[in-house]
Amino acid sequence: MTKLVVATGNPGKLREMQAYLTGLKWELILKPEELEIEETGDTFAANACLKASEVAKATGNWAIADDSGLQVDALDGAPGVYSARYGNTDAERIAKLLKELGDESNREAQFACAIAVARPDGAIVLTQSGICRGEILKKPRGNGGFGYDPVFYVPEKKLTFAEMTPELKRSISHRGKAIAALIPQLPIVK
Ligand code: IMP
Repeated sequence: MTKLVVATGNPGKLREMQAYLTGLKWELILKPEELEIEETGDTFAANACLKASEVAKATGNWAIADDSGLQVDALDGAPGVYSARYGNTDAERIAKLLKELGDESNREAQFACAIAVARPDGAIVLTQSGICRGEILKKPRGNGGFGYDPVFYVPEKKLTFAEMTPELKRSISHRGKAIAALIPQLPIVK
């Protein structure tokens, strides 16, 4: 089986990526911990391509990377590509988001995700993206998932991402939609 390096250091994302990609004809391996790629792009797609390409070149293997984040309508799309850098811990990031939003009545938001796959020489061969619309609650709810999941409420399911089973979140999330679109296009390699 050909190796595919999952270019993330985020354990929550890694769990989700493994669940999507298990069972395919690729051997998933983790990015070496010391290999840190600075996210200098100003779009999710640019950062996903950068991470996939750099990890592929550094390891000499195929690599898959995602870049994702939360975009809040009333905050003009913030925190966006800065979602991971909005605070030092998930609790801090959520507290900052709720403070910035205050009593704003427009709580609409979306998670966005871009995924890229790079060949061992670093060339990008595939990209996909996905979004999931929802609302930001005033208080966290639920213990599952990671990141901003406890404050991201999906009205159609009447649940936050943190209250959903991992299977339900995977079936409707930004990352789930991007990966579902990408999997049929993954090249067959020997
Ligand atoms: P990056 O893609 O490594 O730059 O990190 C994106 C950040 O966005 C994560 O650290 C989380 O804070 C947030 N994020 C991305 N996807 C999700 C998700 O599915 N649930 C909750 N937070 C997410």
